[in-house]
Amino acid sequence: MKTTYAFHADAPADPAARPTVMVWDAPVRVFHWLMVLSFAGAFLTAESERWRLVHVTLGYTMAGLVGFRMAWGLLGTRYARFSSFVRGPAAAVRYVRSLLSDRPEHHIGHNPAGALAILALLGLTVAIGASGWAVYNDVGSGWLEDLHEGAANLMLAVVGVHVAGVLLASRLHRENLVMSMVNGRKPGRPEEGVRNAWRSVAALMLMAVLAFWWVQWQGAPSSDPSVGGPAASVAAGERDRDDD
Ligand code: HEM
Ligand code: HEM
Repeated sequence: MKTTYAFHADAPADPAARPTVMVWDAPVRVFHWLMVLSFAGAFLTAESERWRLVHVTLGYTMAGLVGFRMAWGLLGTRYARFSSFVRGPAAAVRYVRSLLSDRPEHHIGHNPAGALAILALLGLTVAIGASGWAVYNDVGSGWLEDLHEGAANLMLAVVGVHVAGVLLASRLHRENLVMSMVNGRKPGRPEEGVRNAWRSVAALMLMAVLAFWWVQWQGAPSSDPSVGGPAASVAAGERDRDDD
């Protein structure tokens, strides 16, 4: 499958004039924005004992999302499949070099440099989730805590590179990649587009995440049953245990 083509000199200069096709199916987009939300939430709640359950829940959510993404990388649509974007470091170097030339390589799916960051983000999520689980369940020793925190900080750095890469590629190729991750569409030829957005799969994934959050919320310890509900534990029960 050919997903790369040189940027055509005769392509319309105005990006808005270029016809668009569906590139990112709905599961990829819902997965992405849930990852962003969960990562931000997990990071913001990491240091506080009071928010521990929220932190753990968002961390497990990310691990579950990555599990889903692994499966979707085998079963999903054309540009979601690992086989369409996993390339070696040599391809990434070639791509970055081409950006400095007057014929930058253009990839309608993930470019090879972006793909490396994506694989790192997926791998780091697995490492953070597994070490977080071990720390939370008192399995293993102190080094797992260090691994957990170190991998989370490394992931923050990779996210920074990822976002910088997205903004840079958007500028160089004169296309709004962030908006593509929202509506799924990019400039391209009709035969390059995916036909099915698989919204039903995305809806199922979103429902599974919301159901998991609801179950975690219901299971939250409540220090004062007379006040009722798990909200009480956040509002009152754990207030004094905040360690930040
Ligand atoms: C905060 C944590 C973030 C994580 C963990 C993350 C993770 C990912 C992953 C795993 C992908 C691959 C999508 C797939 O094929 O399933 C991806 C792609 C993408 N992300 Fe993020 N992302 C983050 C933040 C952001 C932010 C803040 C933006 C917007 C500024 C962004 C914009 C994009 C875009 C545009 C793509 C598609 C890139 C392309 O066209 O090749 N990401 N991201
Ligand atoms: C994947 C997303 C996650 C991120 C980005 C993340 C990030 C972090 C960070 C940065 C810390 C260090 C806070 C500090 O400075 O003390 C931390 C602590 C912690 N995390 Fe996570 N974490 C994630 C997932 C998880 C998961 C899945 C669990 C458990 C199932 C978990 C359990 C914990 C626990 C128990 C601590 C406290 C460790 C200690 O006592 O120092 N985390 N997390």
